[in-house]
Amino acid sequence: MKSKACVYLLGTGPGDPDLLTVKALRLIQQADVVVYDRLVSDDILQLIPAGTTRIYVGKRSGQHTLAQDEINALLVNLAETERAIVRLKGGDPFIFGRGSEEAWYLAKQGVRFEVIPGITAASACTSYAGIPLTHRGLANSVQFVSGHAQNNQPLDLDWASLADENRTLVIYMGVANIGYISRQLIYAGLPANSPAAAIENGASRRQRCLICELSQLQQRVTEEDLKAPVVFVIGRVVSLASELEWFEHGLVIDNESELHAQHYPS
Ligand SMILES: C[S@@+](CC[C@H](N)C(=O)[O-])C[C@H]1O[C@@H](n2cnc3c(N)ncnc32)[C@H](O)[C@@H]1O
Repeated sequence: MKSKACVYLLGTGPGDPDLLTVKALRLIQQADVVVYDRLVSDDILQLIPAGTTRIYVGKRSGQHTLAQDEINALLVNLAETERAIVRLKGGDPFIFGRGSEEAWYLAKQGVRFEVIPGITAASACTSYAGIPLTHRGLANSVQFVSGHAQNNQPLDLDWASLADENRTLVIYMGVANIGYISRQLIYAGLPANSPAAAIENGASRRQRCLICELSQLQQRVTEEDLKAPVVFVIGRVVSLASELEWFEHGLVIDNESELHAQHYPS
């Protein structure tokens, strides 16, 4: 190990400071320098003490502020001069967050690091939309997949294994490809009327949750003009939202009672 410095790869959850872990809050308040992403909310950034150095390294699709290898190098350089480097990440650092790539690089360079888990979008958004990821009799497993295609290549997913009615499927980064994804799942055997949800800005005051049948998902997302960040949830558990929704922000349900009756018979 090079020095006493430590890089904290810290998950901030969906953006509500009340959903931070106690450890995450303590580290943010004690940091010498904070390096942060685009998905880290303003409410979380406001918790950083006024005198702490902040460095923005966020990315937008196709437009990087810093390339990943530059971020990796920045963290190592900061470890030469600072003691507590807090690297904020939206959600959980190890779920579609490239936290593992940063950890791998730090390990290679002999820089000490810790990973502080955060509430991932799949968990936060579904909780706030009243959709349990598992429910006895409806789903006994859950799968998280990325809907982002690398370098405009077709999505490389195992559609046959994803088309499982007993499983809840959560799709991150899927807005651009949701039509293709829905069609592939239906071709692979998932019923076209499977309940599906699109949750935009989940677990925040700006949350919008659209619920419809799988075959209508792309059309409804276009009609409602949903924009990233969105997670998609496909599976019978979605039919419980009409009963379990508690947050009361922007819920749009098509054929609510029909979907519930079809997939959750009493
Ligand atoms: C690069 S991934 C980062 C995921 C993050 N590490 C996590 O654990 O949630 C970004 C994607 O996460 C999802 N996401 C993150 N925050 C969200 C939110 N508040 N509402 C809906 N989706 C969200 C979206 O699918 C978005 O495109």
